[in-house]
Amino acid sequence: MASAAERRELLKAVYQEARGCVACALHETRTSVVFGAGNADAELMFVGEAPGANEDLQGLPFVGQAGRLLEQLLAEIGMQRDDVFIANTLKCRPPGNRDPHPHELEACRRYLDRQLELIEPTVVCTLGNFATKLLRGEPTGISRIHGQAEVRTIGPRTVRLYPLYHPAAALYTPSTLAMLREDFSRIPEILALGQPATEVSPVQPPGPVAEPVDDPAATVEQDQLGLF
Ligand code: URA
Repeated sequence: MASAAERRELLKAVYQEARGCVACALHETRTSVVFGAGNADAELMFVGEAPGANEDLQGLPFVGQAGRLLEQLLAEIGMQRDDVFIANTLKCRPPGNRDPHPHELEACRRYLDRQLELIEPTVVCTLGNFATKLLRGEPTGISRIHGQAEVRTIGPRTVRLYPLYHPAAALYTPSTLAMLREDFSRIPEILALGQPATEVSPVQPPGPVAEPVDDPAATVEQDQLGLF
């Protein structure tokens, strides 16, 4: 495990790499690479969709109206931006804020995986459909699974994945805002569960019986996933 200083240096190196990225055509239209921002030691990480026009200009994630709502919701649970790390599935703005294309998500994925590996969050909140589908690797939409925490291994890291509505979707729809606020209010209790035990493969190789999982919350969640 890297020290706090090493982790910052390693993250900066990944950022430098991303700044020169030409893995997809979005590099042709971007003003900046919006790598992500926040606390490199965060227990809580948010993954949004993609930078918009303001983010592209400023080089920072969630700086517009949706970002202000995110900050307000964080304040309601006693947290602020500096306590968390905020990233996106795509680091470059899709022109006209169109939806991310599958090959762009694939090309950008390695940066998100490196961020998860280095920051080592305990809880990852996906914001909206794109981040939720990408990180769960399943097509289930956000309206069916928002507010349901589950233990998931995402690339290099086993975390408590907590899908939330995207704040932009809540800006003009009071019922969505109410659900987002309700889901948000449960973040502290999910954080309090701590780091989940590493996900166990459903197909056990022959050999000694697997170690019992000593995290009761993880056991329940993994049962719900049908892993045991
Ligand atoms: N919406 C996102 O998904 N990400 C941002 O950074 C801004 C708006």
